[in-house]
Amino acid sequence: MSNIRWQNLEISQPVRAMSLQQTPRCLWLTGLSGAGKSTIADLLEQRLHARGLHTYILDGDNLRHGLNRDLGFTDADRVENIRRVAEVASLMVDAGLIVIVALISPYRADRDSAQDLFRTGEFVEVFVDASLAECERRDPKGLYAKARRGELKNFTGIDSPYEYPLAPHVHLQTSNSTSAALVEQVENYLGLSTQKPTGHC
Ligand code: ADX
Repeated sequence: MSNIRWQNLEISQPVRAMSLQQTPRCLWLTGLSGAGKSTIADLLEQRLHARGLHTYILDGDNLRHGLNRDLGFTDADRVENIRRVAEVASLMVDAGLIVIVALISPYRADRDSAQDLFRTGEFVEVFVDASLAECERRDPKGLYAKARRGELKNFTGIDSPYEYPLAPHVHLQTSNSTSAALVEQVENYLGLSTQKPTGHC
């Protein structure tokens, strides 16, 4: 590192944000597997896109097919998984985008380190809260059943911990709400009126 110097560049984030006419953000969705992070991310992106906002989704499962395909689910691998995704999200926010991250990101310390990469107010921690019992009941990929049978090790909620957020910016209690209502909660937090899309956020 001592032989590497930071290169200052002329076009800054505020300039990019201004040309995109939006406030760049990282909307970080954390929660158990099967809690609904990807579904909410998908619907949220559609809603933001319909307002003319410029977005991108970084989804844990998808990234593990490429950028993070060398990583598994040990503690060390999860730390590295979250670090890489946070760095990519930070670059995208620097490029002016509204980035939606959907990662279990089970450890508070890792989520805090992710937040540290962003400017004040840019990082929004969204807790997609579904009980373990509910996620296990849904079990959309059959992974909880596998983990219970001992065929899948280090599964979050079974034999690997999930540290729920203590003070998330947005707390989505998924049990009695539709995805649309949950997405609206995020939009409200962002100050987006449900009435008239403005292109600003
Ligand atoms: S994280 O813990 O490192 O943030 P990430 O969100 O990337 O996890 O990936 C979670 C997804 O990987 C789950 O939705 C599930 O489909 C799959 N998966 C496979 N093995 C495991 C495991 N041991 N624990 C949790 N999720 C797993």
